[in-house]
Amino acid sequence: ITIELDAQETEKGAYPYYMLKEVSEQPAVMRRLLRRYTKGASLQFDVKLLAALKDADQLYIVAAGTSYHAGLVGQALFEQLAGVRTTAFLASEFAYHQPLLSQKPFFIFLTQSGETADLRQVLVQINAKNLPSLTMTNVLTATLAREATFALDLAAGPEIAVASTKAYTAQVALEALLAKALGAAKGQAAAKAFDVEHELSLAATGQQALIDQQSAIHELAKEMFATTRNAFFIGRGTDYYVSLESALKLKEISYVQAEGFAAGELKHGTIALIEPGTPVVAIITDPTTAARTRSNAEEVEARGGKVLRIVAESLAEPGDDLIVPALNPLLSPLLTIVPAQLLAYYTSLDRGYDVDRPRNLAKSVTVE
Ligand code: G6P
Repeated sequence: ITIELDAQETEKGAYPYYMLKEVSEQPAVMRRLLRRYTKGASLQFDVKLLAALKDADQLYIVAAGTSYHAGLVGQALFEQLAGVRTTAFLASEFAYHQPLLSQKPFFIFLTQSGETADLRQVLVQINAKNLPSLTMTNVLTATLAREATFALDLAAGPEIAVASTKAYTAQVALEALLAKALGAAKGQAAAKAFDVEHELSLAATGQQALIDQQSAIHELAKEMFATTRNAFFIGRGTDYYVSLESALKLKEISYVQAEGFAAGELKHGTIALIEPGTPVVAIITDPTTAARTRSNAEEVEARGGKVLRIVAESLAEPGDDLIVPALNPLLSPLLTIVPAQLLAYYTSLDRGYDVDRPRNLAKSVTVE
């Protein structure tokens, strides 16, 4: 089933919680972004924005929470497709411990709400220096959109659940579209070879296939997380970035102490925490590192840990728990995050928590 977004965007409809509705809307958001930013075979971005980006020698992505995790994926997308040095920063750190800036920096503020105070603090500082910036946000009328040089719409539609889901995938998709446009404008071979429209439509279909497996994912959530107090997510490259976001989802709404780790780092300390029954989710979508992450997962199992493997179709082996459809590894977070969102959702639901309104959290944080 494809969900269209034009009607009753702020109603829960048949869904028990906004979070499940918003997870389910992700394929439609991918298609909406494609409609919004493509025309025929060409990408539609402001020529002034592309010129400013082309002029930059380094991109600084500034964000918080889930948006920061999307920024980490953006770092890989801009470097690999557009050939421009890119670093993602936590806004709250950047504001007071600024790194040495390059000669021609360009700032990208990634923010669902467009109102996060930690980001605003950085924007005020860079505006004082007259440096160029772009805010990618779900709310074009928000402060960060108004005060940046450029603004782009995430087009995810209103996100009501505190735990961010569709805004994350919209951010990754919009970064991919912009990185492709910039790479093409710069004549980068990697950008030419990257068919972003095809990849995003594959992503939409793949997300739907995963959403359709929600009952099976609910069972996996029970097996893995029903009573646990802690959990780990591991991966390498973009699988590492999605591990961070997966752990955050579980923490936010189910109050399980969860951490995302670079799979190779596990042996440098964290493996000491693995006890019989400790749940570890291994995310494996990159052929260059799949074998290494698999062996890290086996090290966990050798110590009694309980491993759930989320694996790309092309790398699947018998015994893997969840298979995600084929997609360029740069964009695999668009797929692997879906089961992770659902694992968090069902764990929270089964523990009897208010999925949409977790304790201590606010949807938009306007204090530093
Ligand atoms: C709050 C929300 C998070 C969100 C973060 C950044 O902490 O609870 O879900 O990721 O702010 O929000 P933003 O609107 O800037 O993306």
